[in-house]
Amino acid sequence: MRQTIFLDSIKEADYPKLIKLWEAAGNISVRQTDTPEVLGHFLSRNPKCSYAAYAGTRLIGAILAGHDGWRGHLYHLAVKPDYRERGIGTRLVNAAVSAIKSEGVEKIHCLVKRDNLIAQQFWEACSFDQRDDLFDYALL
Ligand SMILES: CC(C)(COP(=O)(O)OP(=O)(O)OC[C@H]1O[C@@H](n2cnc3c(N)ncnc32)[C@H](O)[C@@H]1OP(=O)(O)O)[C@@H](O)C(=O)NCCC(=O)NCCS
Repeated sequence: MRQTIFLDSIKEADYPKLIKLWEAAGNISVRQTDTPEVLGHFLSRNPKCSYAAYAGTRLIGAILAGHDGWRGHLYHLAVKPDYRERGIGTRLVNAAVSAIKSEGVEKIHCLVKRDNLIAQQFWEACSFDQRDDLFDYALL
């Protein structure tokens, strides 16, 4: 029988596991600045919007989410390869979107690499529209 998958808030003890999840996921740029300290800072500013998915005690997926009162942003969505295509990514997105909207923010964005075709199909399946009228300007 398949183990029940449940979503919960991200705990401090999960930070090193999250970084490993992103490094192993493919298509996620894990930078030197993605440290447990930075993660803790982000989550303390956005305590209710990010989620991890667990199979028992095993962390098998996660999404970082937050907003600045104007727009919501979703980051670093990943599901462990063995658990993909079972609706877990969708559950994580729905939970994060509901949490952001419950805080009064309706506009929600996610950056997706142009060569990540699976993610593009995924976001479209989640009813996100691809914007082709914008460039993303960034200080990196
Ligand atoms: C993108 C990712 C999070 C999707 O997670 P998931 O749990 O497999 O997604 P779901 O099972 O909820 O899939 C929802 C829909 O997305 C699409 N989709 C998901 N995986 C797909 C694949 N391999 N090929 C084509 N479409 C796919 C389908 O439309 C699917 O709906 P369906 O099951 O009814 O066909 C996962 O593939 C992943 O971790 N990828 C590596 C990291 C990454 O690229 N993150 C996104 C950064 S923007």
